[in-house]
Amino acid sequence: MVTARPRVPVTADEHRQAMRHLATGVAVLTTCHDGLPHAMTLNTVLSVSTRPPTLLVSLGTQSRTHGILHSADCYTVNILASDQRHLAERFAAKRPMGMSQFEGVAWQPSPITGNPVLPDALLAIDCRIGQRIPVADHTLFVGDVLGVTPARTGVPPLVFACGGYETEGR
Ligand SMILES: Cc1cc2nc3c(=O)[nH]c(=O)nc-3n(C[C@H](O)[C@H](O)[C@H](O)COP(=O)(O)O)c2cc1C
Repeated sequence: MVTARPRVPVTADEHRQAMRHLATGVAVLTTCHDGLPHAMTLNTVLSVSTRPPTLLVSLGTQSRTHGILHSADCYTVNILASDQRHLAERFAAKRPMGMSQFEGVAWQPSPITGNPVLPDALLAIDCRIGQRIPVADHTLFVGDVLGVTPARTGVPPLVFACGGYETEGR
């Protein structure tokens, strides 16, 4: 058996640089706070199990959405299409809370959770939060999948790798 013995601790920057090489899809997580919709971009989305279907998202404790998901009971993961980079950028940038962050963005309430569903995304996955697991400066929110709403077909997913979107030709 080989025992891993790190020479020196890996720094946050070294870890970040290493993970740049892992290509991911991009999603917009939506939820509701005080009756108002909220959204944020994320790429830490993981299918944990299929029987039953569970989906995990990882949020930094400093994000506003993290605070909201501590009292909300559900979230919706909208998986973005390759022509939706503008939405990824919008919901990752500094923006107001509430309805105005959606100005000019088409959405409708999910019939299952009431959270915003982006009709031009590839699909939306509604989840009920089953577990909240703190890890360092993040929390893993494990959701029980309540429903999947397909929206678009024939369009590839938006891909994020090496610090940029694949639509940039990286
Ligand atoms: C491609 C991409 C992926 C991201 N993935 C995550 C993620 O998985 N978890 C996270 O906490 N923040 C992630 N972010 C950062 C958040 O989108 C950003 O901090 C956002 O402004 C948080 O919004 P809020 O403060 O309203 O919650 C990502 C940003 C980008 C551009």
